[in-house]
Amino acid sequence: MSSVQEFLQGVAKSWTHQSWSVRLLRLWLGITFTYAGIDKALDGGFLNPDATTYIGKQLAGFAQQSPISPLLNKMVEHATLVGAGTMVGEIAIGLATLFGVLPFLAAVAGAGLSASLWLSSTFYTTPYFLAPDTAYLIMWLVFALSVMPRKRTVSRVLNVDRRGAIGIGVVGALSIAFASLGNFFARPAKIAFSAAKVVTKQGGGAPTNAIVAISDLNVGSALQIKLTSGDPGILIRTATDAVCAFSAVCTHQGCTVDYDQASKELICPCHGARFDPLQNGKAIAGPTRAALTEIPVQISGEYIVSS
Ligand code: FES
Repeated sequence: MSSVQEFLQGVAKSWTHQSWSVRLLRLWLGITFTYAGIDKALDGGFLNPDATTYIGKQLAGFAQQSPISPLLNKMVEHATLVGAGTMVGEIAIGLATLFGVLPFLAAVAGAGLSASLWLSSTFYTTPYFLAPDTAYLIMWLVFALSVMPRKRTVSRVLNVDRRGAIGIGVVGALSIAFASLGNFFARPAKIAFSAAKVVTKQGGGAPTNAIVAISDLNVGSALQIKLTSGDPGILIRTATDAVCAFSAVCTHQGCTVDYDQASKELICPCHGARFDPLQNGKAIAGPTRAALTEIPVQISGEYIVSS
């Protein structure tokens, strides 16, 4: 019997010996995690440090409000590696679950990933049932219990026979192939606006409340500013004679939003909240309904000033 036949036979067998409730759980978890990894691969910005959806920005945002902030800050230093690992890891966990390859280990890894996502991004979500990560954590634990080998010897758990080795090879190769293919066909990255510094031109008769000379902010551009509260803010020139400014603190869980020049929206890298600067910072998508705090600014002569 060829290796492929042997592998496919193992996959079929792994499904026939399970109850319908376990099959349903397995199907849902396997498809969802595979999809989550491929979706990251298809996001051209996920591994691009200049993009609004860059994993490093997400981690930095999570670190602002997480019980494992020190660990997340360390991960920011290796963000691209962490992102690539998460992407391939999610696909591998999903495929291993669907194919029945090391199912117990895949379930434990899925539970671990869900727990880390919960600690990183949704730990303070209230009520707790609005956070999907806790639900996934419980689902993985239930699945792990249902596929746990009765005799938990190393060889049983690791399934180190010929069929197990073929399965590991297939899952590993497909995970890397899907991640690479996803990157190849990825959606274009949304590049974040970034200002190297806050510009405050106050020489030559500028008013004391001047933020920046109007000539230094092109129409359609934005400037990161610091608010008197110490919070980050963002100033946008929406038209030749129109400006607006907002607190850049996301109203969901406090990450810092960026201005996306292509969509003309303020986007949160953490959970994808979107705000419309032309509608007073109204939340138009994502997990929050609260608008960004608007900061009063206006054009006065040659300057944009706080009013
Ligand atoms: S912090 Fe969750 S969407 Fe911004």
